[in-house]
Amino acid sequence: MSHQQDTNRLIRALNKVETIICVDVWWTAATRWSDIVFPAATTLEQNDITSGGTYSNDRVYAMKKVIEPIGESLPDYEIFEGLADKLGLWAQFTDSEDKMYHIKLAYEASGAAKEIPFEEFWEKGYARMPVPAEARKWTRHGAFYEDPEGSPLHTTSGKIEMFCDTIANMELDDCPGMPQWIEKHEYLGVAKEGQLHVVSPHPWFRLHSQMANSERLRDLYMVQGREPVRINAEDAAARGIEDGDLVELYNKRGTVIAGAVVSDGIMPGVVSIYEGGWPQLDSKGRDNSGLANFLTSTQPTSGLAEASTANTTLIEMRKCEDPEGPNMAYHPPAIIEDMEIAEIDDEALGLERLEALTAALYADMTPGEQMFFERCTVCHAPREVTHYTQQQWKGIVPSMFERAGLEDSERELVMDYLMTNAADAAAH
Ligand code: HEC
Repeated sequence: MSHQQDTNRLIRALNKVETIICVDVWWTAATRWSDIVFPAATTLEQNDITSGGTYSNDRVYAMKKVIEPIGESLPDYEIFEGLADKLGLWAQFTDSEDKMYHIKLAYEASGAAKEIPFEEFWEKGYARMPVPAEARKWTRHGAFYEDPEGSPLHTTSGKIEMFCDTIANMELDDCPGMPQWIEKHEYLGVAKEGQLHVVSPHPWFRLHSQMANSERLRDLYMVQGREPVRINAEDAAARGIEDGDLVELYNKRGTVIAGAVVSDGIMPGVVSIYEGGWPQLDSKGRDNSGLANFLTSTQPTSGLAEASTANTTLIEMRKCEDPEGPNMAYHPPAIIEDMEIAEIDDEALGLERLEALTAALYADMTPGEQMFFERCTVCHAPREVTHYTQQQWKGIVPSMFERAGLEDSERELVMDYLMTNAADAAAH
């Protein structure tokens, strides 16, 4: 909810969805906009496994349980285990084993298992994955410098491109073949009298929206319980705003109530409010908490990148004369103690449809494609096969096959699928 630009547009979209189910550790805005919430345990309350290492990603870590889950929360694995059971798929979901078995299986499918056995890894807390020499050759620091001709980049020319023909040939109005300044849809150059430019940088006191639920942290920066907005003294004076006042920042997309921090540390015409606040709407549809994304637009950076333009936003500002009560964005809901829990109607689950869909999905796939979607999606979303040439795939797969723990026969199947569907497959 905090992450998405033009939050009111997101809310309009959510209102069209019949049922929203959310799995979360905290009582976030996403849970408040959901119909059903499964309270999940944190990573400190369950055993798990993860990979890491800056850039190299060549380490596996044991994430060990520190305390039991609090309240009725469950590890997400157990939440889905329970759901699978309701759907009559418990055995398929669990292989009739517990989570530790799957953690061990995941470890043993990685290259690290060749170095040290699972029990030793779990005891020690981490293991290294060997990077095959063939793959190391392909890293940015490897043979590229020794043999640039033989180690092309993933561009058409195989080189760093100042002018990109591929992009130029797309003939997009807002994305020429090389970087250049293009007039923004919203900036001070097109602002009307009284409009201000709003920027929403990363906060220093939390990670995006994470940790905003910590009252101890909020006490360090909030102004009257709202996100602080930095305003130049001239802009504040022109609107009768004083340091510590509540202000309304608004445009046609939404209205945000924030706490004024009047300062000479920001240029006139620009206000700054950190991204990542949690939302709470008051009866007038104003955000009573200070989430900057009620103001930002979904205008993409260009027709090619479609990235967000969160810092390209015009607003107007006035003193807030009628705030409605405190910011409730971080308050948990009231719990109804003596509620009767309904039985699940098995008939209504539509299991036949589920089985038919699964069968239809797999029916069209070659064994290599099936293996690709099953084994190459453990760490990341499936990569678009057609986005790489055969040559590029040959460079990428040595390290990925190792990571996915594929046997020789399985490698052959996946390789066959990649070669048949690579960008230049038809040319070969
Ligand atoms: C154990 C985790 C893991 C598994 C399993 C895995 N990958 Fe990756 N993959 C990564 C990581 C980490 C990166 C990014 C770092 C890198 O490039 O090495 C990555 C990057 C990629 C990239 C981008 C490479 C580039 O240079 O643009 C492709 C393509 C890819 N993987 C394909 C695959 C395929 C195909 C499989 C199945 C055979 C697979 N991956 C299985 C972890 C994994």
